[in-house]
Amino acid sequence: MLDVGGGPGVHAKWLVEDGYTVALVDPIPRHVEQASAICSASLGDARALDASDDSYDVVQLLGPLYHLPDPADRRRALAEAQRVVKPGGLVAAAAINRYASLFEHVTYAHLHTDRMYEPVSKILRTAVHDGAHFTLAYFHRAEELADELREAGLTKVEVFGIEGPAWSLVKAVEQQPGEGPTDDLIASAMAAARMAEPYPELLAASSHLLAVGHS
Ligand SMILES: C[S@@+](CC[C@H](N)C(=O)[O-])C[C@H]1O[C@@H](n2cnc3c(N)ncnc32)[C@H](O)[C@@H]1O
Repeated sequence: MLDVGGGPGVHAKWLVEDGYTVALVDPIPRHVEQASAICSASLGDARALDASDDSYDVVQLLGPLYHLPDPADRRRALAEAQRVVKPGGLVAAAAINRYASLFEHVTYAHLHTDRMYEPVSKILRTAVHDGAHFTLAYFHRAEELADELREAGLTKVEVFGIEGPAWSLVKAVEQQPGEGPTDDLIASAMAAARMAEPYPELLAASSHLLAVGHS
């Protein structure tokens, strides 16, 4: 499988341990150097992959779409994934949810402050963050992410909420003094993620989205 924007190999590591053959591509030399200890890794850009047509069973992009605010760049990245995956293969692409910062900044108890209200409102309005405290980032709606995969020619597209709708409750407890979230709270949040899966309207409450499509 091809891990596009695989960073230092966080996911490549467990995939290799599970027996998959992974090649990783990333534009940051330090990431490529670190990932080389785990799998075959090379410098590259999601928008112009070196791989041949129909050469991988699975292509994953767990990050590049966050960093491509221009829709033409995201189209190129998904078209490249579709080009290099074999017919019948899988493309999996992660995105940050449009509403993630609204939920997140409640957990720090500062969403209502002058410092945070406007930047978070701006992300909701424009889908882009290009200011301080976080990298240049694009925030998807679930249906928009599904449409982008379909426009690239992928079929049977499904979108999953990675953290589920209760992640911000866990994070809020992490911010409070004390022992942090209990095992029961974590187990309940995991149960909420599974229970929410058939209900696409609940995707809006997850922090990240994972879209999966077939070539
Ligand atoms: C949030 S990190 C995720 C890393 C890894 N996939 C993970 O899940 O831990 C985003 C990654 O996308 C990479 N990236 C950014 N722009 C990219 C592009 N145009 N093509 C490929 N990768 C890109 C970054 O270098 C970074 O390693």
